[in-house]
Amino acid sequence: RLEAVIFDLDGVITDTAEYHYLAWQALADELGVPFSREKNERLKGVSRMESLDIVLEDSGLGLPEAAKLRLAEQKNDHYREMIGRITPADLLPGIPELLDSLRKGGILVGLASASLNAPVILERLGAAHWFQAAADPASLRKGKPDPEIFLQAAELLGVTPGNCIGVEDAAAGIAAIKAAGMKAVGIGSPAQLGDADLLLPRTVELSVEKLLELLRQ
Ligand code: G6P
Ligand code: MG
Repeated sequence: RLEAVIFDLDGVITDTAEYHYLAWQALADELGVPFSREKNERLKGVSRMESLDIVLEDSGLGLPEAAKLRLAEQKNDHYREMIGRITPADLLPGIPELLDSLRKGGILVGLASASLNAPVILERLGAAHWFQAAADPASLRKGKPDPEIFLQAAELLGVTPGNCIGVEDAAAGIAAIKAAGMKAVGIGSPAQLGDADLLLPRTVELSVEKLLELLRQ
């Protein structure tokens, strides 16, 4: 029985994955460090400081922690500027309808986002009311692909992981969902998300029927 669906935020509920990319690209350009959309795929689902380490990995810059914190803050300031313009119109296609249908079907909805900006984004989207629980990324010992964030969301919802579906746009997220013992829905392309139990190219393809069917398998 499907008890809950646990969603990633960036790239699933709204297209903030693009803003993260633009902010990292701008920082990399400023530092003269090579960066690309391909490299950006590895940052999806990954915490801010871990992302910075990946951005800097081939730079040869051995920066002290304080300098890294400043760079992460600079990226975040730029990102906050972009998300400050978010409105409910930025919910990805099909997401409001899906969240309404889940509510009608008595299926719980949780959030498993590594982003410390998630509460602000949900607020700007007018989407907070759809979620019965959200994992707190600041409380986690390990990020995705560790299952901890999805397990915490399930625990907060009071549901059994085996009766949950996770929805993700990142390879690290799909791995986290599967390690949590949940079924994984990937939004994106097989090149990145080949391990998903159900892969859909776009959010508009999501439906309660497909989710129910996935858990019956
Ligand atoms: C999500 C995104 C990542 C981002 C992380 C931390 O997992 O997919 O790209 O780095 O959140 O976000 P934050 O808003 O806290 O910097
Ligand atoms: Mg994401």
